[in-house]
Parts: sequence; C-alpha cells; structure tokens
Amino acid sequence: MQINQNISLKPLNTFGIDVNAKYFTTVNSINDLKGVLNLKEHSNKLILGGGSNILLTKNQDSLVIHINLKGKEIVSETEDFVLVKANAGENWHEFVLWCLKNDFGGVENLSLIPGNVGTAPIQNIGAYGVELKNHFVSCEALSIENNTFVTFNKDDCHFDYRNSIFKQEAKGKYIITSVVFKLTKKKHNLHINYGTIKSQLDYMGITNPTIQNISKAVIAIRESKLPNPKEIGNSGSFFKNPVVPKSHYHILLQSFEDMPSYKVSEDMVKIPAGWLIEKAGFKGKRFGDCGVHKKQALVLVNYGNAKGIDILNLSQLIQKTVKRLFGISIEAEVNIL
Ligand code: EPU
Repeated sequence: MQINQNISLKPLNTFGIDVNAKYFTTVNSINDLKGVLNLKEHSNKLILGGGSNILLTKNQDSLVIHINLKGKEIVSETEDFVLVKANAGENWHEFVLWCLKNDFGGVENLSLIPGNVGTAPIQNIGAYGVELKNHFVSCEALSIENNTFVTFNKDDCHFDYRNSIFKQEAKGKYIITSVVFKLTKKKHNLHINYGTIKSQLDYMGITNPTIQNISKAVIAIRESKLPNPKEIGNSGSFFKNPVVPKSHYHILLQSFEDMPSYKVSEDMVKIPAGWLIEKAGFKGKRFGDCGVHKKQALVLVNYGNAKGIDILNLSQLIQKTVKRLFGISIEAEVNIL
C-alpha cells in the first residue's frame, strides 16, 4: 500500500470540488486497510467511498483512505430468497444491475443512486418508496480505534429516514467493509405506487411490470429530473425533507394551499424541501459557478469551478430564507467537510 501526497480529490467527489488531500491512499484489500489503520503517524483519517454524499470545503489535512474493496457473492439461498454479500467499494448502481441480471428483487427502486455499497447504509439511501433498510441484513465494519471487525445487524444500525447509527454515535468510528442483503428470487414485492413510477410504466406501455421494468422506469424518472454528476457536479438531495408538527403544517396551509406533504405520524408531517426551496425562489438560480438545479430544487450544482465554500454559502442562504418564510429549519443531508 502506498501513501501519496497532495492528491486532488476532484475525480473522487461527485460535486467535482477541487481540493487536495495532504495524504492519500487507496485500499484494495482488507489487509491493506488493516495496515493503513495501524499507521500511528496518521491519527486523523477520512474515509472516502463513492464521494457522492460529501461537500469538500477545504484541503484535507488528514489521511484520506479511498475504499476500493470489490466483490460480491451469494452467501446462501432458499427457493424464495437469496442472501447476497457485496463489498464496500462496489458501485451501488452496478450492484443493482447485477441483482437485476440475476433476477434478484428488492433494490430495483434504488437504481441509479450514485455512491458505493459501503456508504449506502450510512444514510440509509432511499428512493421511490424503498429504503436500503428494507433489504439490509447486516454489515461488517472495521473499528478504526482497535482494528477489529464488528458485525452490525439491522437492529444495531438504528435506521431511520436518511439516518443510521453511522451518522450518530458510531460516526467516524467504523469503516463498513461489506453489506449483506436479503433479496427475493421469485414473487417479487413490487413498489410501483410512489410518485411517478406508475405513470412512467404506463408511458412505457407496461401493465404487468417486472423488476427490470421498474428499474428502467426509475432510471428514466431520475434522468429526467436529476443532473448526471458526470456532466454537472452535484450530490443528489442536498437537504433532508423536514418533518414538522401538524399544528405548524396547518398554519402554513392557510397561506400555501398547494403545499405537498406526507403523513409521518399522528402529530408530524413531512414537507418536501424541494417545494419550500422552489417557493422561496431559488429553483434554477445560478450564483457564479454554483446554483440550484432547474428541475429539482433539492439539488445544488457545481457548473464547473465552484468552490465548496461557495456551495456551503448558498446552502446557508437557502436555509435562512426557508426559515424566514416558513419558520422551518432544513438540515443538510450531505456531509460537510
Ligand atoms: N417538489 C417541488 N419542487 C422541486 C422538487 C420537488 O415542488 O423542485 C415537490 C414535488 O412536486 C413533489 C414533492 O416535492 O410534490 C416531492 O418531490 P420528489 O418526488 O421529486 O421527491 P423529493 O422529496 O424531492 C426524495 C429524495 C430523493 C428521491 C426522491 C424520490 C430526499 C431528501 N430526497 O426527493 O433522493 O430520489 O424522493 O423518492 O428524501 C437523494 O437522496 O439524493 C435523492 C435524490
């Protein structure tokens, strides 16, 4: 394993922010990873997966460890189900395509989400009515402190909307090295009622969808609304959708009759941050080289040479404006480093 110095992280974060890592290494095996964790001279370490959920606002002084652990395998199977283990450095969408090729059902609604398998549990990735937690069995993680493996079962992970133990008390303490999923081999449980999936399937002329059809529909919807990070730097949804008390929601409804919402519990309502940001006038607005995507206001974009700090400033302006107009605090979903 080799430690390089002053390496640009631009190709390794989907926002395309050009900052340097003072020290950088790529790990291709567990042995490499254990070796790196033993390097006492580098006490500060930053773990980098697919780079799809970070905003880099400055050069990184720590040792940046790029996780490139590849491989996927069937761990066990019955007539109806299969347990599949994928290593952390597998690209998420390629993993989904592999599942579809094998006709393993469960993750098709999560097609085309940027990032890697190993970082997917951290924020419990979700889209179109499915979350990672629905198919997660366990993950293996290496403790940064004592270089030993720990297995986290589903309950240990405290999964919630865009949240898990890895964003809370276990934050910065573990490196997820592999994840096990439970998928269906037949009688797939299809989720086609969310948002525009049904109408997209209708448009495609499909009445009796397969998991492969659903994936194609999700890909078409995402491609029509979300910018491709290879063309325009972005990190998907920059903010989480806020959950507010019902009383607050009803007050807002008096002024904004068209405000969309989802019931979360008897007392709480989720409001799409994209709607709040659009209503606040930011959708499609450009500020120098950064801006708010023209088709989905939840996504901040780098048109070329934006600095992380420009995007951070824009996000804070949006937060302040939404707070002033609606009395709602919206929280960043991406990790700001
Ligand atoms: N909306 C607007 N203006 C916008 C964007 C959205 O008014 O600019 C409204 C829509 O009209 C709709 C509602 O907000 O009524 C919801 O929009 P959408 O279905 O696009 O979903 P979202 O809540 O904006 C979430 C996820 C996405 C995921 C989609 C589909 C979060 C933070 N984001 O977005 O996830 O793809 O649902 O399931 O929960 C991501 O995490 O990177 C991501 C893209």
